[in-house]
Amino acid sequence: MENSVVVVGGAGRVGRVVVQRLLERRESVRVIGRSVPQALRHLAPGAVFRQGDVRVPQSLESGLTGCSAVVYCVEPGTAKSGPDRPETTACHGVRNVLEAATAGGNRPHMVLISQLHATHQGHPLNAYGRLLSWRFAGEEAVRESGLPYTVVRPGWLIDDRKAGHRVRLDQGDQNTGQVARQDVAEACVQALYTPAARGVTFEMFNEPGAPFPSWSEAYGSLAWDRTPVA
Ligand SMILES: NC(=O)c1ccc[n+]([C@@H]2O[C@H](COP(=O)([O-])OP(=O)(O)OC[C@H]3O[C@@H](n4cnc5c(N)ncnc54)[C@H](OP(=O)(O)O)[C@@H]3O)[C@@H](O)[C@H]2O)c1
Repeated sequence: MENSVVVVGGAGRVGRVVVQRLLERRESVRVIGRSVPQALRHLAPGAVFRQGDVRVPQSLESGLTGCSAVVYCVEPGTAKSGPDRPETTACHGVRNVLEAATAGGNRPHMVLISQLHATHQGHPLNAYGRLLSWRFAGEEAVRESGLPYTVVRPGWLIDDRKAGHRVRLDQGDQNTGQVARQDVAEACVQALYTPAARGVTFEMFNEPGAPFPSWSEAYGSLAWDRTPVA
């Protein structure tokens, strides 16, 4: 990439794998998060940490200026009200990041980690501060941004491959299952280098079977949300 890739929430469990894989590709990587101790504990040497909170627009400016891509891996709160309600991070935070990343006419590729069931507003998870409604609103902000984007809706996250070694990409938000954090991280990284991953929203799960042969084939099998942005 020409400029830095910014991983928002990059010291988290998916984010730190994204960071590691980007560094292995010799990308310049910036990480935004609130906790300095978490960053010190989990970030690979080589990543540049900028303390910031997605709910506070001014805290994002320096970290996102001029970036080539953003991967948004922020865990939303689940409070019914107050600063930890999902609206603040799953929707407003996404908008704040989009605004800071596009300052001066910059046009980064935005990869958003959302979740399965984001379109199911009657699901019991939506009792947690309307988590799913705000997830969907955050997705829509990305889809409507005019930027190249990829929206990833992982199944239930796990830290191993006990659900299987094959990754399945689905569309339509009809299925459920588990997926390894490392596969989600790889999907985010591969999306940045795969033209067919632009302009798509998909769910991802693990299942038994051999890994698929290539990410470009897997992304190429997906339907675009609308005509992709160049
Ligand atoms: N758990 C599941 O089964 C499941 C299923 C589907 C999707 N997901 C989603 O997948 C994504 C990645 O999950 P994960 O397991 O990697 O989460 P995680 O380990 O909890 O990491 C989340 C990261 O978000 C950062 N963060 C939280 N609030 C922030 C804020 N206001 N401003 C800036 N950074 C903030 C945290 O860092 P600081 O605390 O330092 O800010 C942390 O590094 C999340 O969006 C999660 O909701 C989860």
